[in-house]
Amino acid sequence: VNEECTGNLKRQLAKLFDVSLKVTVPDEPSVEPLVAASAPGKFGDYQCNNAMGLWSIIKGKGTQFKGPPAVGQALVKSLPTSEMVESCSVAGPGFINVVLSPKWMAKSIENMLIDGVDTWAPSLPVKRAVVDFSSPNIAKEMHVGHLRSTIIGDTIARMLEYSKVEVLRRNHVGDWGTQFGMLIEYLFEKFPDTDSVTETAIGDLQVFYKASKHKFDMDEEFKEKAQQAVVRLQGGDPLYRKAWAKICDISRTEFAMVYQRLRVELEEKGESFYNPYISKVIEELNTKGLVEESEGARVIFLEGFNIPLMVVKSDGGFNYASTDLTALWYRLNEEEAEWIIYVTDVGQQQHFNMFFKAARKAGWLPDSDETYPRVNHVGFGLVLGEDGKRFRTRATDVVRLVDLLDEAKTRSKIALVEHGKDKEWTPEELDQTAEAIGYGAVKYADLKNNRLTNYTFSFDQMLNDKGNTAVYLLYAHARICSIIRKSGKDIEELKKTGNLALDHPDERALGLHLLRFAETVEEACTNLLPSVLCEYLYSLSDYYTKFYSNCQVNGSPEETSRLLLCEATAIVMRKCFHLLGITPVYKI
Ligand code: ARG
Repeated sequence: VNEECTGNLKRQLAKLFDVSLKVTVPDEPSVEPLVAASAPGKFGDYQCNNAMGLWSIIKGKGTQFKGPPAVGQALVKSLPTSEMVESCSVAGPGFINVVLSPKWMAKSIENMLIDGVDTWAPSLPVKRAVVDFSSPNIAKEMHVGHLRSTIIGDTIARMLEYSKVEVLRRNHVGDWGTQFGMLIEYLFEKFPDTDSVTETAIGDLQVFYKASKHKFDMDEEFKEKAQQAVVRLQGGDPLYRKAWAKICDISRTEFAMVYQRLRVELEEKGESFYNPYISKVIEELNTKGLVEESEGARVIFLEGFNIPLMVVKSDGGFNYASTDLTALWYRLNEEEAEWIIYVTDVGQQQHFNMFFKAARKAGWLPDSDETYPRVNHVGFGLVLGEDGKRFRTRATDVVRLVDLLDEAKTRSKIALVEHGKDKEWTPEELDQTAEAIGYGAVKYADLKNNRLTNYTFSFDQMLNDKGNTAVYLLYAHARICSIIRKSGKDIEELKKTGNLALDHPDERALGLHLLRFAETVEEACTNLLPSVLCEYLYSLSDYYTKFYSNCQVNGSPEETSRLLLCEATAIVMRKCFHLLGITPVYKI
């Protein structure tokens, strides 16, 4: 078989083993090939682990085989010959070790250099997805939890986009809660002439929020007015709508500063957007017999949960859950999304599990959570300060995200100046590099952890130039670029004319890791785990370091081949940075 690299080696090998399974055990057509990457240093690059399981299926059926190793041997024998595979061997109880052909590997990398790294993109069985992320609440603080959601959600969206999925990046802003009653009433009191209210007049919206909340808690008369204000707002009173819009606008400007720094794109479809559809959707659930009366409220009882899901409050108003059910309905039916992904802290897990279950009960979603259309809650842990408590910057204050990002940039600029970069570079270069490193550090520190665990926010750790940090990785990339520059060769020309070989063991190990990029992105994507991509990137820099310390590049007889390997590494690193939302650095 003349085998072109399609990106995903694991899948490509699985196809070969599928053929051999059909030949070896024609009576077991449902057995799927089990192919996995081998651990480094093992006897082979990939393993096929079908023999043992197959044996337990066929041994009682009068098989000709004498045990799992014999099954393994037979699978190897029937494996179609392929340029991809150098050799196969059966070990122990029947593991099949596959050694890839270094020639084929080299050729595949050469092809990527010519055709671009997008040829290694995974292909997912989804046309359109919604990623619901960031989603702060108007007038309340945008806190580090929202920062995590923004960073993780953006990466998930980027990975899906790379896999050619159309992604609707949705900011499900909390712009419709009962807090608006008191906010609007307070606004009317402070600024009787609402039209003339400017942003600066209101000042800090969070302070404004606190002041109105204080009044709400202390002043009965005000409280009543605030409750009526909610009714008037939701009923569409123009005066109240106007005040509401003003408050939302001020918050939006604040959120936009964070998105602009992080270069994250989002389209706002806040809770209020779904308001016109809610009663219809709840009515549909009602007709389906899902909704029951409980203590004056309307609820859905769900198996496996000890509390019901409230969809209409006792005062007749709608809530977070009714909005989410409606948004889900809209995304499935109006936007025709096949995969809907929600990124929030794990504290909201129960809410998501409950309304997902309600949607299944209503027949909107299939019962299995792996068939499409599919929904997933991507939960994440808390951000902790270095004292191990919930993260805050200054003792009393809440964390201002913009200040936090600015500080990361300032600190990284100081470090660059300490290294004398202000004398080598133009002020723009210094500023851009400081920004790439500073914001990159914040993002990477968040993404590298398994998202479910809490993580400690520490500028000193994330801005360290050693260890598993963005700084270290960005420097590693810049160093590769400088090696290529120093060679004085035109790398674009070399890509067309030069050949790549993977003769040295460290060249081969690096090449293999490069070829595992596609299956890694696919895994990170399907399991919604950006940390998998971070681990890949970090080990890529490790393989590169090993290669570079044992294989001379510039001025060696293998110079052309090794420069191409450097370039391939830089390209894959840049793609990783891109998927993680990090701006690469070319010079250090
Ligand atoms: N606004 C919510 C919060 O700050 C997050 C919304 C998440 N998205 C959703 N569809 N519920 O906690």
